[in-house]
Amino acid sequence: MYRLLKQEGRAKRGEFETVHGTIQTPVFMNVGTVAAIKGAVSTQDLEQIKTQVELSNTYHLHVRPGDKIIKQLGGLHKFMSWNKPILTDSGGFQVFSLATLRKIKEEGVYFNSHIDGRKIFMGPEESMQIQSNLASTIAMAFDECAPAKAERAYVENSVARTTRWLERCKAEMARLNSQEDTINKNQLLFGINQGAIYTDIRIEHAKRISELNLDGYAIGGLAVGESHEEMYHVLDETVPYLPVNKPTYLMGVGTPANILEGVERGIDFFDCVYPSRNGRHGHLYTNHGKINLFNAKYELDDRPIEEGCDCPACRRYTRAYIRHLLKAKEMLGMRLCVLHNLYFYNTMMEEIRAALDAGNFAAYKKNKLDNMSHPED
Ligand code: GUN
Ligand code: ZN
Repeated sequence: MYRLLKQEGRAKRGEFETVHGTIQTPVFMNVGTVAAIKGAVSTQDLEQIKTQVELSNTYHLHVRPGDKIIKQLGGLHKFMSWNKPILTDSGGFQVFSLATLRKIKEEGVYFNSHIDGRKIFMGPEESMQIQSNLASTIAMAFDECAPAKAERAYVENSVARTTRWLERCKAEMARLNSQEDTINKNQLLFGINQGAIYTDIRIEHAKRISELNLDGYAIGGLAVGESHEEMYHVLDETVPYLPVNKPTYLMGVGTPANILEGVERGIDFFDCVYPSRNGRHGHLYTNHGKINLFNAKYELDDRPIEEGCDCPACRRYTRAYIRHLLKAKEMLGMRLCVLHNLYFYNTMMEEIRAALDAGNFAAYKKNKLDNMSHPED
């Protein structure tokens, strides 16, 4: 299903075939946690800003509206009217970052919902069942994302349990995919590498999960408080132990620079809330770095956010107008900013793929980073 089309150093240019269409990698997935991209962005908009994969969350959709309701309505694709690939995160990370009164046991995690305080249990089987009800293209394994600064003994225990959970995820996914009333019987499963910043634990774990012959492999537990250098070091050490003929996914990362560094180290998939979150706050990505539209110097600026950008915001509107919308708290202001930022990310990924195709990724990366480090205009 994954075809490695080209390599430049460790950087991979690939193609991932799924029942919902072929994903060209490296790719940036656009985050729609509750089956909505924050900032009033519709799935019709996503089609216009070159989105290849939408990402939603098991935990949030289980709590509201409920995965059984989504299954009755035909699955997540039908529910949100998006027919291209969808990846669902397993709930592992969100349970650990959002839920309260958490208790981790061998069978899974007991916690209280962040919406209504209701007691919930989620283990590997429950996570697979929920993701099967959602019928996403790619399901993520149920894991524990240990804190970046966790002690070695804690991480060793946690990773061993995450491995046992992964084996249970694989068995449960196989069972669900063979059931008559399953919506997507071709649902794919990605395993998740953990180990905080202990590279020896990461390497052992990477070797172990590679033997399970899963559909893809993620690196989790990064961008959770460690430095960028530590993150790049973990990638340098760990990615070589994941199969080169399967997609790799760096979870929750990151800035444009993080993505360029990740691609160089062999990553195919990325996702991050930065472009949508920053857009909602008027922080916009340009090829010369980020600009803050709330800055008074844009009051009379009749240029688009970025000269030459073909996004729905830049094609029609000026910085001065969008700044006015933001200041007046008009929803359109946020919406245009999010559309521009996602378009910026999706376009950068397109450029990265073209550079890899042409064999000049190294030059592209250097040039992109040099330009972006220039102060705002
Ligand atoms: N999103 C960002 N990091 C992680 C992680 O470590 N695990 C999961 N499941 N999701 C994530
Ligand atoms: Zn634009």
